[in-house]
Amino acid sequence: MEQQALKENAGRAAAEALVKSGMKLGLGTGSTAIHVIRRVGELMAEGSLSGILAFPTSFQSSIACEKWGIPVYALNAKEIGGSLDLTIDGADEIDPENRLIKGGGGALLIEKLAAYASAAYAIVADESKLVENLGTAFPVPIEVIPEARITAAAALEKLGAAVFLREAVRKAGPVITEHGNLLLDIRFPFPVDSAALETELNGIPGVVENGFFTRIRPVVYIAHTDGIIEVRK
Ligand code: 5RP
Repeated sequence: MEQQALKENAGRAAAEALVKSGMKLGLGTGSTAIHVIRRVGELMAEGSLSGILAFPTSFQSSIACEKWGIPVYALNAKEIGGSLDLTIDGADEIDPENRLIKGGGGALLIEKLAAYASAAYAIVADESKLVENLGTAFPVPIEVIPEARITAAAALEKLGAAVFLREAVRKAGPVITEHGNLLLDIRFPFPVDSAALETELNGIPGVVENGFFTRIRPVVYIAHTDGIIEVRK
């Protein structure tokens, strides 16, 4: 089965199993999470779901909500009040304890805000995202303020990481995040303690957020090539 079909299977399965009418719902970013948004929109259109209050985690998911007729709210809106019933999102790497790397789509800052503001958290992914150790294959994105580009990179190299400024595609220069920041993608040549690093990396001056998600253990919907959707808690 093609990877795109796996992503669609995982996204649709999680939306159908987990989303209930009246939920305050965080909606993630990326090519897998988009299938969650689409399925929620379809279920609303056919009358199986109602009263959804959505908090999209990026421009991409906000535009998808608009397309599929899902009403969107700010996290600070009085209807949402800073807490969500459920967030469903994608991930770049998932370890055996369901700890994650996220931010391949550059939306880690709001994705983490949504994850940690949610009573329940679910991840949708195809099986290629499963790894033994986080951070040695897929790089960990670090969002930094532009002024910290060199100092934060130096601090990250001191921890043993190789550091790459994320370059934009079809725009000259670096990626600028939705909050006006830069992304440093870092890769460790050795296994790391992701839970300790999630805290430590944010202590580097100028770092806004990092892509380790270790303090909330999601339920993970994993689409396998044989058509099975594994639900891993
Ligand atoms: C965006 C993310 C995405 O959820 C992650 O990159 C997975 O994306 P995809 O489903 O396209 O593989 O964290 O910031």
